Amino acid sequence: MPAYAVIGGQWGDEGKGKVIDYLSERVTVVARFSGGNNAGHTVLNHKGEFKFHLMPSGAVWPQVLPVIGNGVVVDPNVLIEEIEDLKSRGLEVSKLQVSDRAHIIMPYHVALDQLEEEGRGTGALGTTGRGVGPAYVDKVARTGIRFGDMLDAEGLRNRIKQVLPHVNAIITNVHGGKAFDVPEIFQRCLEWREQLLPFIAPVEERVRGALSRGENVLLEGAQGTLLDLDHGTYPYVTSSSSSVGGACAGLGIGPMSVAGVFGIFKAYTTRVGAGPMPTELNDATGESIRQRAGEFGTTTGRPRRCGWFDGVAARYGVIVNDLTSGILTRLDILDGMNPVKVCVGYEVDGEPIDGFPAQINALEKCKPIYQDFAGWTKPTAGLTTWDDVPQEAKQYVQGLEKVIGCPLDVISTGPHRHETISRKMLIP
Ligand code: GDP
Ligand code: IMO
Ligand code: MG
Repeated sequence: MPAYAVIGGQWGDEGKGKVIDYLSERVTVVARFSGGNNAGHTVLNHKGEFKFHLMPSGAVWPQVLPVIGNGVVVDPNVLIEEIEDLKSRGLEVSKLQVSDRAHIIMPYHVALDQLEEEGRGTGALGTTGRGVGPAYVDKVARTGIRFGDMLDAEGLRNRIKQVLPHVNAIITNVHGGKAFDVPEIFQRCLEWREQLLPFIAPVEERVRGALSRGENVLLEGAQGTLLDLDHGTYPYVTSSSSSVGGACAGLGIGPMSVAGVFGIFKAYTTRVGAGPMPTELNDATGESIRQRAGEFGTTTGRPRRCGWFDGVAARYGVIVNDLTSGILTRLDILDGMNPVKVCVGYEVDGEPIDGFPAQINALEKCKPIYQDFAGWTKPTAGLTTWDDVPQEAKQYVQGLEKVIGCPLDVISTGPHRHETISRKMLIP
């Protein structure tokens, strides 16, 4: 069964959007399965630049059916805005399908995200403030409201009446915030329903149909493995399963449907938000990477923390996703740097340790052990064939493959769709 997953291998922003747009030529469905509009996926092609937050990144291709699966939490305001923006740019978005089982990010989730962050003080997680965490909390607590609930207005009003008193008690008593009103929330839902009704669907059947006809389906990961609720640097993580395990649960397909799992890795490391990052560079080199790469968040505009490639963390990502291929992005950003360093192990108090620690206290004590690679003088920016890659850059790529234990079958050398080197055909 020909489904292929694209998973962030690090702390997000690896260039998943660019890669998904590139790979979508050969697929008929692109489906988001986790996260919400905390994601910001940049796509650049002949139609211009797009920053997708909810719309799947393959949406620019005319043959692609864009799907938002049950595992995604959706802020209807953001989705409506994104649909309108794409329409005004001449894109055909009427085919979009949003799962009737996807949970709604309500205005009170956004308020709670911000109140909770304020309450955490110096221990703030640095969330994107989009209500994603609180919406998943309600899903797990079984007090969420789903897109399918909008189909029955009376049922919806009763559901809001049932869940809102508890939400309000937390907002007012715990956080000292302002309560939400049942008629106001209900009215908002009716307005959303007016605009989104044509998109709400049982998406499982459409995805299954494509798979059984032998069509290729792309599963679009958001965030990254190190932000995964279980496998990431807990508690400095997002609230969903961003690794490949989330793809089946978040869309309603079985694991036997997944024929390939592609992990996206930036040629260095970035992180936005709080939490340990062993290879972070708080110096001129880190600043130089941030400036030359324009490392500022696609969703929040925050400066991203930058550092050398962390081979220990990336190898952990290879293992927990059972990656069949790695895809390396932003190699061009390292053009002209010398040396280029890779973290090949961690040490604590001068002693090397094995693996990627589960506890953040342990991870915070880890110091990177670096291997130096010679820089390259001839640029890689915009290259499209492996043969043209300078020898030193090839050695760097091969060094990364060795440390992470996975082949890097596609190399991205620029933000544009065509600035890509294919070393192996990933989707037949
Ligand atoms: P995502 O969240 O994983 O989709 O990544 P983002 O879109 O948030 O951030 C990746 C940034 O890198 C975007 O600005 C992309 O346009 C850009 N990008 C992706 N691949 C490359 C590449 O190979 N080279 C360069 N220079 N930029 C790239
Ligand atoms: P894409 O899909 C980078 C980070 C936030 C914060 C933590 C929790 O573009 O790679 P949340 O709002 O999810 O509760 O925040 O997760 N984060 C991301 N970092 N890229 C993302 O998405 C992210 N989505 C969430 O900065 O540290
Ligand atoms: Mg991003």
